[in-house]
Amino acid sequence: MSGVRRLEGIPVLVGSDAAAIAREVATRIAELVRARAAKCRRAVLGLATGSTPLGVYRELRRLHTDCGLDFGNVETFNLDEYHPVDPASEHSYHRYMREKLFDHVDVPEDRIHIPRGDLAAAQVAAHCHAYEEAIREAGGIDLQILGIGRDGHIGFNEPGSARDSRTRLVHLDAVTRADAADEFGGLEKVPRQAITMGVATIMEAREIVLIALGAHKAEVVRRAVVGPVGSAVAATFLREHSAAVMYVDPPAATELLREIRTRRDSAGDRS
Ligand code: GLP
Repeated sequence: MSGVRRLEGIPVLVGSDAAAIAREVATRIAELVRARAAKCRRAVLGLATGSTPLGVYRELRRLHTDCGLDFGNVETFNLDEYHPVDPASEHSYHRYMREKLFDHVDVPEDRIHIPRGDLAAAQVAAHCHAYEEAIREAGGIDLQILGIGRDGHIGFNEPGSARDSRTRLVHLDAVTRADAADEFGGLEKVPRQAITMGVATIMEAREIVLIALGAHKAEVVRRAVVGPVGSAVAATFLREHSAAVMYVDPPAATELLREIRTRRDSAGDRS
């Protein structure tokens, strides 16, 4: 894993490929879970969905089956869920999490938390408040896994999300809905809203790992790492976190590396 150093406040690690990154992140999670278990304490994980963390979940399932990694002391909080969506729907993040992780490891049922996409609009605000309370009661999130949207979202904190935002119902950005269209079988079928942890909720995690994979993420990786910090690209706020790190594969690193080279060249010209 080659580091691009703490360029603008966040270490960026370029992994050789998605599998190497997944192994490294899953190993960090396993270390945390085991260290907490040794002290008879819970490990509280913040979890993401989408294609990006699939390798991490695959590796965690392998560690559970082949190496006896025990999730009995683990509590989980997912970042987000579409709204409205039935938890049994093939498009729900509830279903995703069951299929990719929870059906295969032993996280206690009552310690799995995912925002509910099946509540009536009038119940959503209380649910979001209770979600924040549950995170606090668990002692806060130890390690938060994040992907990144092409518009720079983390969770579903779309452009315009404030630094102090909390778990809430949001409108999905056009880019996000377009990116989800194939999965839903057409743009018109993609929900217009979602419930997401806020930027402030995410920033309170003690450790944050953002993963970006693929050439289609290269431009947003560049903006997240060297673009102006602000709500236009929610991921830029991670640069203000003391223990956030980004893992990117080589295709996702290209634009950032190009910008670094350009900056070096122009600094060289001036000296
Ligand atoms: C989704 C999720 C995010 C995820 C992102 C990237 O819409 N709400 O949590 O990180 O978009 O998705 P993918 O990993 O499939 O590229």
